[in-house]
Amino acid sequence: MSKKETAIQPNIETREEFYTNYPSFKYWNVNKSSDLFSPEPINIYIHIPFCVQICNFCYYKTEKIKSQYDIENYVESLCKEIALVASKREYSKTPVDSIYIGGGTPTLLKPKQFTRIVDVLKKYHDISSAEFTLESAAGTFNKEKVECYVKNGVTRMSMGVQSFDDEILRMSNRKHVQKLVFNSLELLRGYEGLVVNIDILSGLVGDTHESFSHTVREAINSNVDAITFYKFKTYANTAFYQKSLRNDDIELPSAEQEIEFMESALDILQSSDYSMWTTFAFTKNNYKHTYIEKTWRGKDCVSYGVSAFGKIGNVSYQNTNNLLHYKASIEEGTLPLYRQYKLSLKDEIVKELLLCVARLNSYKKAEFVEKFGFDYFEFLPKEIDFLYTNGFIKEGTDELRLTNKGILFADYIGKVLVDGFKAKIGDDQYQLIY
Ligand SMILES: C[S@@+](CC[C@H](N)C(=O)[O-])C[C@H]1O[C@@H](n2cnc3c(N)ncnc32)[C@H](O)[C@@H]1O
Ligand code: SF4
Repeated sequence: MSKKETAIQPNIETREEFYTNYPSFKYWNVNKSSDLFSPEPINIYIHIPFCVQICNFCYYKTEKIKSQYDIENYVESLCKEIALVASKREYSKTPVDSIYIGGGTPTLLKPKQFTRIVDVLKKYHDISSAEFTLESAAGTFNKEKVECYVKNGVTRMSMGVQSFDDEILRMSNRKHVQKLVFNSLELLRGYEGLVVNIDILSGLVGDTHESFSHTVREAINSNVDAITFYKFKTYANTAFYQKSLRNDDIELPSAEQEIEFMESALDILQSSDYSMWTTFAFTKNNYKHTYIEKTWRGKDCVSYGVSAFGKIGNVSYQNTNNLLHYKASIEEGTLPLYRQYKLSLKDEIVKELLLCVARLNSYKKAEFVEKFGFDYFEFLPKEIDFLYTNGFIKEGTDELRLTNKGILFADYIGKVLVDGFKAKIGDDQYQLIY
């Protein structure tokens, strides 16, 4: 036995401790809140797995569209899945905070197909006050489509731009050129109140310091509400990965170059009207994207569609990746589930440290304390000190405030905190997967 451990003192003379409840009532607050019986709001994700082309960098579950029948059949299955889930669990009185229709390229849906999905959603969910995002690619929608989206409640359009350099777009096998981006943005500007986000990829094949800075400047000039910077990762299921295995002639910026790209992007952004909302999304007027806010904070997300990810209670789950299995499952009246992961309290803590503490611009320590009952500043003093002395975080104790270096290396910050947490709870048998 180590010196620190105290021996258990047997006290078997009395039977005073007789637990039938926890925690002891002396810790309970008098509160007559009626929230007790209001259902917790949920979020909804819907996946549309079709595109006009498969981009060389893309790792998402999507297929090159062969005919309109593909989409028509898929919409049919999707609507049946929504009804099927409703037959398992009643959601009609549960408010929906946010909806995200992602892909693929959901703007390939015809107005009739889109309206049909929303009608079925409305039948089984209370979406009356939901933030409603639709993902799109530049050049895949026209006025008629946007009218239909807005009429059906879409409040946020997220458009893939990736780069403002036509040669880089061509090398990535994108169908659009810069001019189409400007046309699409012009179209969206006509709708007051419609929030517009554009996605940019850093470290794409062919990118240079000049081309990336040009992209960042053009993104800022486009005056959209939000700009999201994804870091290009060569996943094994991408064409670029396959090309690199075959030693094809592709020139990826090095890891150091990608860091330099983002360093100057931060400089440019910080002298603009945009401010950091997450470590890779910059917004105007402190705009916050509800879907990300809620799902990162662990709120429930019911998902529909092939390969869609969701979370209900402490179970994260994913639907099958296979379109044929997906359809067959729905026809048989069974949920198209593929895999699940039951999150322990430790997993929830790890998730909060990685996604919220290390990534959100403002995540007050008090929120963490209320959720998990302990203060990570006090729990991990060595790690906090390390992050501060190495210039990743600023001084302060009410939340983790990131320096520019911290913004660039947010995942590293998360890892330092999680490793510290893991060491502190002191047992490798509690495997934490991250
Ligand atoms: C699922 S796509 C949907 C957007 C739309 N289909 C488009 O491409 O214009 C969402 C975003 O994921 C990002 N993305 C795709 N492949 C990626 C990769 N290998 N690494 C990091 N981000 C990636 C892209 O920036 C893309 O805009
Ligand atoms: S990036 Fe968008 S358009 Fe390109 S393949 Fe992926 S989902 Fe489709």
